[in-house]
Amino acid sequence: MHDRVTLPQWLDHLIFDELGAKYCRSNSDMTVIDWDKNDVLNYLGTYFPRSYAESYCIFSDFFRSHSEQFANKEDLSVFDFGCGTGGEIIGLLTVLAEYCPTVREVRVVALDGNDYALQLYDIVLAELKKKLTIKIENHSTQLHIDDFYDLSILNKVLKRKFDVIITFKAICEFVTKQQFEQHNAYEHVAKFLLHKLTDSGIMLLVDVTTYNNTSKEWLPKMLDRGLATTNCHIVDQNKGYNQSYSISHSRFPNDISKVAWRMIRNKSRITIE
Ligand SMILES: C[S@@+](CC[C@H](N)C(=O)[O-])C[C@H]1O[C@@H](n2cnc3c(N)ncnc32)[C@H](O)[C@@H]1O
Repeated sequence: MHDRVTLPQWLDHLIFDELGAKYCRSNSDMTVIDWDKNDVLNYLGTYFPRSYAESYCIFSDFFRSHSEQFANKEDLSVFDFGCGTGGEIIGLLTVLAEYCPTVREVRVVALDGNDYALQLYDIVLAELKKKLTIKIENHSTQLHIDDFYDLSILNKVLKRKFDVIITFKAICEFVTKQQFEQHNAYEHVAKFLLHKLTDSGIMLLVDVTTYNNTSKEWLPKMLDRGLATTNCHIVDQNKGYNQSYSISHSRFPNDISKVAWRMIRNKSRITIE
Protein backbone atom coordinates (compact mmCIF):
# COMPACT_ATOMS: atom_id res chain seq x y z
CA MET A 1 0.00 0.00 0.00
CA HIS A 2 1.34 3.39 -1.00
CA ASP A 3 0.35 6.81 0.22
CA ARG A 4 -1.09 8.41 -2.91
CA VAL A 5 -0.94 12.07 -3.92
CA THR A 6 -1.90 13.96 -7.08
CA LEU A 7 0.09 17.08 -7.82
CA PRO A 8 -2.26 20.09 -7.53
CA GLN A 9 -3.40 21.31 -10.95
CA TRP A 10 -1.85 24.80 -10.60
CA LEU A 11 1.51 23.28 -9.64
CA ASP A 12 1.40 20.77 -12.50
CA HIS A 13 0.65 23.57 -14.99
CA LEU A 14 3.37 25.83 -13.55
CA ILE A 15 6.24 23.34 -13.56
CA PHE A 16 5.49 21.49 -16.82
CA ASP A 17 3.77 24.06 -19.05
CA GLU A 18 5.27 27.34 -17.86
CA LEU A 19 8.73 26.39 -16.56
CA GLY A 20 9.38 23.56 -19.05
CA ALA A 21 10.09 20.77 -16.54
CA LYS A 22 10.61 17.28 -18.01
CA TYR A 23 9.95 13.84 -16.53
CA CYS A 24 13.24 11.95 -16.78
CA ARG A 25 14.62 9.54 -14.19
CA SER A 26 18.33 9.55 -13.31
CA ASN A 27 20.76 6.98 -12.04
CA SER A 28 21.49 6.44 -8.36
CA ASP A 29 24.27 8.34 -6.55
CA MET A 30 23.41 11.45 -8.61
CA THR A 31 24.89 14.77 -7.51
CA VAL A 32 22.49 17.60 -8.39
CA ILE A 33 24.89 20.18 -6.96
CA ASP A 34 26.82 20.06 -10.28
CA TRP A 35 23.80 20.11 -12.59
CA ASP A 36 23.12 22.78 -15.25
CA LYS A 37 19.81 24.42 -16.10
CA ASN A 38 18.53 21.60 -18.34
CA ASP A 39 19.39 18.91 -15.83
CA VAL A 40 17.62 20.89 -13.11
CA LEU A 41 14.50 21.14 -15.31
CA ASN A 42 14.57 17.33 -15.50
CA TYR A 43 14.87 17.30 -11.72
CA LEU A 44 11.88 19.65 -11.43
CA GLY A 45 9.69 17.35 -13.54
CA THR A 46 10.77 14.12 -11.85
CA TYR A 47 11.95 14.55 -8.27
CA PHE A 48 10.19 17.80 -7.26
CA PRO A 49 6.76 16.05 -7.42
CA ARG A 50 8.14 13.11 -5.42
CA SER A 51 9.52 15.34 -2.66
CA TYR A 52 6.24 17.25 -2.62
CA ALA A 53 4.32 13.96 -2.12
CA GLU A 54 6.68 12.55 0.53
CA SER A 55 6.57 15.77 2.54
CA TYR A 56 2.79 16.14 2.15
CA CYS A 57 2.16 12.56 3.36
CA ILE A 58 4.67 12.50 6.22
CA PHE A 59 3.61 15.88 7.64
CA SER A 60 -0.15 15.33 7.26
CA ASP A 61 0.14 12.00 9.10
CA PHE A 62 2.27 13.69 11.76
CA PHE A 63 -0.12 16.61 12.35
CA ARG A 64 -3.13 14.27 12.38
CA SER A 65 -1.62 12.34 15.30
CA HIS A 66 0.18 15.29 16.99
CA SER A 67 -2.44 18.04 16.90
CA GLU A 68 -0.80 19.59 20.00
CA GLN A 69 2.30 20.42 17.93
CA PHE A 70 2.09 24.17 17.10
CA ALA A 71 -1.45 24.43 18.57
CA ASN A 72 -2.02 28.18 19.17
CA LYS A 73 1.22 29.10 17.36
CA GLU A 74 0.84 32.08 15.03
CA ASP A 75 4.38 32.39 13.64
CA LEU A 76 6.57 29.52 12.53
CA SER A 77 10.09 29.30 11.14
CA VAL A 78 11.31 26.59 8.76
CA PHE A 79 14.81 25.73 7.57
CA ASP A 80 15.52 23.40 4.62
CA PHE A 81 19.09 22.10 4.25
CA GLY A 82 19.69 21.31 0.54
CA CYS A 83 16.27 22.46 -0.66
CA GLY A 84 16.98 22.16 -4.41
CA THR A 85 13.75 23.03 -6.22
CA GLY A 86 11.93 22.80 -2.87
CA GLY A 87 9.14 20.24 -3.46
CA GLU A 88 9.26 19.34 0.24
CA ILE A 89 8.78 22.99 1.29
CA ILE A 90 5.71 23.34 -0.94
CA GLY A 91 4.35 20.07 0.55
CA LEU A 92 5.03 21.22 4.12
CA LEU A 93 3.47 24.68 3.66
CA THR A 94 0.38 23.08 2.08
CA VAL A 95 0.04 20.83 5.14
CA LEU A 96 0.55 23.72 7.59
CA ALA A 97 -2.25 25.61 5.84
CA GLU A 98 -4.55 22.55 6.16
CA TYR A 99 -3.68 21.31 9.67
CA CYS A 100 -2.45 24.31 11.70
CA PRO A 101 -5.29 26.85 11.55
CA THR A 102 -3.72 29.31 14.02
CA VAL A 103 -0.56 29.78 11.93
CA ARG A 104 -0.61 33.18 10.21
CA GLU A 105 3.00 33.63 9.12
CA VAL A 106 5.87 31.29 8.16
CA ARG A 107 9.47 32.38 7.69
CA VAL A 108 11.25 29.95 5.36
CA VAL A 109 15.04 29.82 5.11
CA ALA A 110 16.04 27.51 2.25
CA LEU A 111 19.66 26.72 1.50
CA ASP A 112 21.23 25.11 -1.53
CA GLY A 113 24.45 25.29 -3.53
CA ASN A 114 22.76 25.07 -6.95
CA ASP A 115 21.61 28.47 -8.16
CA TYR A 116 19.40 27.12 -11.01
CA ALA A 117 17.46 25.01 -8.53
CA LEU A 118 17.01 27.96 -6.17
CA GLN A 119 15.73 30.20 -8.98
CA LEU A 120 13.03 27.64 -9.82
CA TYR A 121 12.18 27.23 -6.14
CA ASP A 122 11.72 31.01 -5.80
CA ILE A 123 9.28 31.05 -8.74
CA VAL A 124 7.23 28.13 -7.39
CA LEU A 125 7.11 29.58 -3.86
CA ALA A 126 5.97 32.97 -5.23
CA GLU A 127 3.03 31.19 -6.91
CA LEU A 128 2.18 29.24 -3.75
CA LYS A 129 2.10 32.51 -1.79
CA LYS A 130 -0.78 33.66 -4.02
CA LYS A 131 -2.78 30.53 -3.17
CA LEU A 132 -2.40 30.52 0.65
CA THR A 133 -3.77 32.94 3.21
CA ILE A 134 -0.68 32.29 5.38
CA LYS A 135 1.95 35.01 4.93
CA ILE A 136 5.24 33.47 3.76
CA GLU A 137 8.61 35.18 4.13
CA ASN A 138 11.17 33.72 1.72
CA HIS A 139 14.88 33.73 2.53
CA SER A 140 16.49 31.48 -0.07
CA THR A 141 20.25 31.36 0.22
CA GLN A 142 22.82 30.05 -2.22
CA LEU A 143 25.72 28.47 -0.36
CA HIS A 144 27.98 25.63 -1.49
CA ILE A 145 29.25 23.70 1.52
CA ASP A 146 32.68 22.28 0.70
CA ASP A 147 33.65 20.54 3.91
CA PHE A 148 32.72 19.92 7.51
CA TYR A 149 34.20 23.26 8.66
CA ASP A 150 31.89 25.10 6.24
CA LEU A 151 28.94 24.07 8.39
CA SER A 152 30.04 26.84 10.80
CA ILE A 153 29.46 29.37 7.98
CA LEU A 154 25.83 28.43 8.35
CA ASN A 155 25.80 30.19 11.73
CA LYS A 156 25.77 33.46 9.79
CA VAL A 157 22.64 32.40 7.90
CA LEU A 158 20.91 30.65 10.80
CA LYS A 159 20.88 33.39 13.40
CA ARG A 160 17.62 32.28 15.01
CA LYS A 161 16.29 28.85 15.97
CA PHE A 162 13.69 27.04 13.88
CA ASP A 163 10.40 25.30 14.66
CA VAL A 164 10.82 22.89 11.75
CA ILE A 165 14.04 21.76 10.06
CA ILE A 166 13.90 19.53 7.02
CA THR A 167 16.44 17.91 4.75
CA PHE A 168 15.34 15.78 1.81
CA LYS A 169 17.75 13.65 -0.24
CA ALA A 170 20.59 16.14 0.20
CA ILE A 171 22.88 14.44 2.72
CA CYS A 172 23.31 11.49 0.32
CA GLU A 173 25.14 13.90 -2.00
CA PHE A 174 27.57 14.81 0.79
CA VAL A 175 28.22 11.08 1.20
CA THR A 176 28.76 10.50 -2.52
CA LYS A 177 31.12 13.45 -2.84
CA GLN A 178 32.90 12.66 0.45
CA GLN A 179 32.27 16.26 1.48
CA PHE A 180 33.07 15.34 5.09
CA GLU A 181 35.85 12.89 4.11
CA GLN A 182 35.31 9.53 5.84
CA HIS A 183 33.07 10.99 8.57
CA ASN A 184 29.39 10.13 8.81
CA ALA A 185 27.60 13.04 7.07
CA TYR A 186 24.26 12.30 8.79
CA GLU A 187 25.93 12.55 12.20
CA HIS A 188 27.59 15.91 11.44
CA VAL A 189 24.56 17.51 9.85
CA ALA A 190 22.11 16.25 12.51
CA LYS A 191 24.37 17.31 15.41
CA PHE A 192 24.81 20.77 13.93
CA LEU A 193 21.13 21.26 13.10
CA LEU A 194 19.78 19.94 16.44
CA HIS A 195 21.32 23.06 18.01
CA LYS A 196 19.24 25.15 15.63
CA LEU A 197 15.90 23.69 16.76
CA THR A 198 13.56 25.51 19.16
CA ASP A 199 12.59 23.62 22.35
CA SER A 200 9.44 22.23 20.77
CA GLY A 201 10.98 22.01 17.30
CA ILE A 202 10.92 18.98 15.03
CA MET A 203 13.41 17.87 12.39
CA LEU A 204 12.62 15.59 9.46
CA LEU A 205 15.46 13.80 7.68
CA VAL A 206 14.48 12.04 4.46
CA ASP A 207 16.85 10.21 2.15
CA VAL A 208 17.15 7.65 -0.59
CA THR A 209 17.59 4.04 0.51
CA THR A 210 20.27 2.90 -1.93
CA TYR A 211 23.64 1.30 -1.30
CA ASN A 212 26.16 4.12 -1.64
CA ASN A 213 29.18 3.19 -3.73
CA THR A 214 31.43 5.78 -2.07
CA SER A 215 30.72 4.94 1.58
CA LYS A 216 30.15 1.25 0.72
CA GLU A 217 27.15 1.26 3.01
CA TRP A 218 23.34 1.23 2.76
CA LEU A 219 22.25 4.82 3.42
CA PRO A 220 19.47 4.08 5.97
CA LYS A 221 22.03 2.14 8.06
CA MET A 222 24.43 5.05 7.86
CA LEU A 223 21.61 7.43 8.84
CA ASP A 224 20.78 5.36 11.94
CA ARG A 225 24.44 4.99 12.89
CA GLY A 226 24.81 8.77 12.63
CA LEU A 227 21.69 9.59 14.63
CA ALA A 228 22.66 7.11 17.39
CA THR A 229 25.60 9.38 18.29
CA THR A 230 23.42 12.50 18.63
CA ASN A 231 21.26 13.78 21.45
CA CYS A 232 18.05 13.14 19.55
CA HIS A 233 14.77 11.42 20.30
CA ILE A 234 13.14 9.68 17.33
CA VAL A 235 9.49 10.76 17.31
CA ASP A 236 8.49 8.75 14.25
CA GLN A 237 10.02 6.94 11.29
CA ASN A 238 9.18 4.95 8.18
CA LYS A 239 7.92 1.46 8.79
CA GLY A 240 10.26 -1.29 7.62
CA TYR A 241 13.29 -0.61 5.49
CA ASN A 242 11.69 2.09 3.34
CA GLN A 243 8.34 3.68 2.65
CA SER A 244 6.74 4.08 -0.79
CA TYR A 245 4.80 7.10 -1.96
CA SER A 246 2.85 7.42 -5.18
CA ILE A 247 2.59 10.73 -7.02
CA SER A 248 0.50 11.30 -10.14
CA HIS A 249 0.85 14.23 -12.49
CA SER A 250 0.25 15.06 -16.15
CA ARG A 251 3.53 13.50 -17.31
CA PHE A 252 3.41 10.23 -15.33
CA PRO A 253 0.58 8.53 -13.46
CA ASN A 254 1.48 6.66 -10.29
CA ASP A 255 5.19 7.43 -10.06
CA ILE A 256 6.59 5.56 -7.04
CA SER A 257 9.33 6.90 -4.78
CA LYS A 258 10.92 4.98 -1.93
CA VAL A 259 12.60 6.77 0.95
CA ALA A 260 13.75 6.31 4.53
CA TRP A 261 12.81 9.01 7.01
CA ARG A 262 13.24 9.91 10.67
CA MET A 263 11.34 12.63 12.55
CA ILE A 264 13.46 13.72 15.51
CA ARG A 265 13.67 16.29 18.28
CA ASN A 266 16.19 17.19 20.96
CA LYS A 267 16.31 14.59 23.74
CA SER A 268 17.10 17.22 26.39
CA ARG A 269 13.58 18.59 25.89
CA ILE A 270 12.07 15.22 26.84
CA THR A 271 13.97 15.05 30.16
CA ILE A 272 13.01 18.59 31.19
CA GLU A 273 9.27 17.87 30.75
C1 LIG B 1 18.90 15.29 -4.72
S1 LIG B 1 18.77 17.01 -4.49
C2 LIG B 1 17.39 17.17 -3.38
C3 LIG B 1 16.74 18.51 -3.49
C4 LIG B 1 15.45 18.66 -2.67
N1 LIG B 1 15.75 18.59 -1.27
C5 LIG B 1 14.42 17.65 -3.08
O1 LIG B 1 14.16 16.71 -2.32
O2 LIG B 1 13.88 17.77 -4.16
C6 LIG B 1 20.12 17.40 -3.41
C7 LIG B 1 20.33 18.89 -3.23
O3 LIG B 1 21.43 19.09 -2.33
C8 LIG B 1 22.22 20.16 -2.81
N2 LIG B 1 23.61 20.00 -2.37
C9 LIG B 1 24.37 18.88 -2.52
N3 LIG B 1 25.61 19.08 -2.05
C10 LIG B 1 25.64 20.34 -1.60
C11 LIG B 1 26.67 21.15 -1.01
N4 LIG B 1 27.88 20.66 -0.81
N5 LIG B 1 26.36 22.43 -0.66
C12 LIG B 1 25.12 22.92 -0.87
N6 LIG B 1 24.10 22.21 -1.43
C13 LIG B 1 24.37 20.94 -1.79
C14 LIG B 1 22.13 20.04 -4.34
O4 LIG B 1 22.43 21.24 -5.01
C15 LIG B 1 20.70 19.57 -4.54
O5 LIG B 1 19.81 20.62 -4.82
